[in-house]
Amino acid sequence: MIVLGIEGTAHTLGIGLVDDSGNVLANVLKNYQPSEGIHPREAANHHAKHLVPAIEEAFEEGDVRKEDIGLIAFSRGPGLGPCLRTVATAARALSLSLGVPLTGVNHCVAHLEIGRLTTEADDPVLLYTSGGNTQVIAFSRGRYRVFGETLDIGIGNMLDKFGRGKGMPFPAGPIIEEIAADGSSLLELPYSVKGMDVSFSGVLTAASKMDAPLEDICYSLQETTFAMLTEVTERALAHTKKDEVLLGGGVACNQRLREMVDIMTRERGAASYAPLKSLCVDNGAMIAWNGLLMYDAGLDISVENSGILQGYRTDEVDVLWRQQKDLF
Ligand code: ATP
Ligand code: FE2
Repeated sequence: MIVLGIEGTAHTLGIGLVDDSGNVLANVLKNYQPSEGIHPREAANHHAKHLVPAIEEAFEEGDVRKEDIGLIAFSRGPGLGPCLRTVATAARALSLSLGVPLTGVNHCVAHLEIGRLTTEADDPVLLYTSGGNTQVIAFSRGRYRVFGETLDIGIGNMLDKFGRGKGMPFPAGPIIEEIAADGSSLLELPYSVKGMDVSFSGVLTAASKMDAPLEDICYSLQETTFAMLTEVTERALAHTKKDEVLLGGGVACNQRLREMVDIMTRERGAASYAPLKSLCVDNGAMIAWNGLLMYDAGLDISVENSGILQGYRTDEVDVLWRQQKDLF
């Protein structure tokens, strides 16, 4: 069976085609480019406009016909209401017109499952770092539990806001990474770890006001915030007694973050993994794959019960497709 997955929680519209052996046949991404922060209605209009052409492109890329589709999966939440509603409407219409079942996927869980599919990670702690989300997630007692998270903004959001203040286009994360490569002086910034949680608003304000060469600010911003993330991830490993870290989310494209997590895991005798960049960022393939896992576990939904879940929590999902492994 081939699954068509639609991602649209925020600025990315993604259409993915995945078969039941876990092959990604197509993964088309269309990004809304906000001029000043993401405007939910404008992002939703972007998704509506690109939906049909993106699906056609995915069919072409994967050499798939609409008759081959056996399941529709969509990102049910968490995310921006207008964006979620737009992709949910498209998913329902496709499910009805093709006469195939429907699954509604938790976006954060999908990041983890695509990593389990495409890397060697089997039972990892996921460090999920994107624009809107920053969470440390691991499987325990039938659910993906959130062991730590940001108390305010996501790390990518923090980087983008800092960058906007310095005149960088969106997304600023990759530009900051490039500039940081020329920095060497570690400036003091607020290091904000509270138990298993982190916060970024203080470091954003401090870095934005700092009077120093931009390369040193970018370098220090990365070193400080990535160290915070590495610290809470290490504590989650110790707590859960797991020995794998999986990276996910757009900020996981950052080489320095990957390197810091890699050093930490190697020092513990553990391992770290990151999916291909096109599967790290928001994408439709991860929604398609997680949708198939859900369908196989009997978790498909009727059109009547397919309402979006804007504040869908990672630990609300009954992970019936995984065997109980740990009992801690
Ligand atoms: P979500 O809906 O999960 O919050 P998102 O809409 O933020 O996701 P993603 O594609 O997962 O989308 O992540 C985008 C974020 O990743 C942006 O904030 C961007 O600045 C950041 N980013 C991308 N590449 C890098 C990089 N190399 N270094 C740091 N940050 C990066
Ligand atoms: Fe995401």
